[in-house]
Amino acid sequence: AVPVIAIDGPTASGKGTVAQRVANALGWAVLDSGALYRLTALACIDQGVAPDDESGAAKIAAGLDVRFVDGCIFMAGQDVTEAIRAENVGLFASQIAALGRVREALLGRQRAFRQLPGLVADGRDMGTVVFPDAPLKVFLVADVHARAQRRCKQLIEKGFPANLADLTRDLEARDARDQSRANAPLAAAPDAVTLDSSQLSIEETVNAVLDLWSN
Ligand code: CDP
Repeated sequence: AVPVIAIDGPTASGKGTVAQRVANALGWAVLDSGALYRLTALACIDQGVAPDDESGAAKIAAGLDVRFVDGCIFMAGQDVTEAIRAENVGLFASQIAALGRVREALLGRQRAFRQLPGLVADGRDMGTVVFPDAPLKVFLVADVHARAQRRCKQLIEKGFPANLADLTRDLEARDARDQSRANAPLAAAPDAVTLDSSQLSIEETVNAVLDLWSN
């Protein structure tokens, strides 16, 4: 089977950056599954679909016209790479991610990223639901302060407004929602290795994952 490294964990734990760098180091493909939830959220916002409209959101998820090209994301021909990173889109994404039919609609799209020589998949349920047979599963955590600081820096770099106190509250709310939902709640797979990156640089975290893979 095509090897998969599943990297799951709470919001702003650094999964996205780590997954991309691990993929680059191995020459593998990468799946940013959160982007699919964010794309669905952005399309719902644009089309006036409410975050609790399960059939409306599932229809949008199933019909997403999206292309991933060299680190850029196009939806219906428009470059939405930056737009999907806005905090309101992330919050909306975490709401529709609680809907079972939305998750189901995105399942096949995620599995299609699995191709030789391998895939690094970043999300909440990569190791538990999408790629349960992944030979390496990493559960990447970091304390809420470290995560709020990282997210703050990231948003400011992208030109979005950011405030540490608000972000800490947002992260805690999102963690609570991701952990308590009935559908694919955020949890480490039984065979996952938990890695705490609170005190690690990105490079140290990437090296830790590569070490786990080569050992
Ligand atoms: O950037 P951040 O970690 O906050 O979020 P993301 O990975 O871009 O994902 C956005 C939202 O989608 C998360 O808050 C999750 O609720 C949801 N999500 C999910 O439920 N399952 C995944 N595999 C990936 C994301």
